Amino acid sequence: MKTIAITGDKGGVGKSTISALLAQWFAFQNYSVNLLDADPNRTIYTWLEKCKGAGYDFCVAEKDTDILIVDTAGTSGSSLIQHVKDADLIIVPFQPHVADLEIVIGWFLSIKESLQKKVVFLPNRREGTVEQKEGILQVTKILKAEGAGFLLKGINNRPAIYPPILNALSVNYFASIKDTKVIEEISSNFTILKEILYGK
Ligand SMILES: Nc1ncnc2c1ncn2[C@@H]1O[C@H](COP(=O)(O)OP(=O)(O)OP(=O)(O)O)[C@@H](O)[C@H]1O
Ligand SMILES: [Mg+2]
Repeated sequence: MKTIAITGDKGGVGKSTISALLAQWFAFQNYSVNLLDADPNRTIYTWLEKCKGAGYDFCVAEKDTDILIVDTAGTSGSSLIQHVKDADLIIVPFQPHVADLEIVIGWFLSIKESLQKKVVFLPNRREGTVEQKEGILQVTKILKAEGAGFLLKGINNRPAIYPPILNALSVNYFASIKDTKVIEEISSNFTILKEILYGK
């Protein structure tokens, strides 16, 4: 089983949205998936219950699924929960704004090198503004200086598309969306994660 933890020190950056998208993406590709909600707000747990209520129960409750995705409430400094420490991959969604970046980069610099090597940054709600481009450049420089971590291309700000993933789904999200650009955008990011986990 491969474990992917979604974390970072910043709230409201899309951790639960990315957890749900990632679970649906792997499920769509016929991987067995389980989701664990490590956030007391229970966003993912509530979402899974809504999906079950709509007749869509995609999580495999067995211990040894192909993929376990753990959504967290964020962390405080380097005191990470065990699931994050044990994860094969640590995904950190972030909004590439200056204020967010201070927190995200501070968090990255506070964790051990062995964990830094497992971190993948995912720009979320990307708008391509000058400020955001500078923010992404800043992350690139930090990763280079640390010699660890990986930066994905990112996911755009699409209020009409991404927030509805956390509504009750009755079928796989990727079977329900028609916009091929959106599928391409997600796949171009998540395929890289799959390759990091399993090799090319
Ligand atoms: N790519 C996106 N485009 C547009 N809206 C998005 C995108 N990603 C997330 N959102 C919206 O941003 C808000 C925060 O997302 P989400 O709840 O996933 O963040 P979170 O990091 O899990 O928050 P928390 O720290 O409270 O757990 C939600 O309203 C969600 O619908
Ligand atoms: Mg959340």
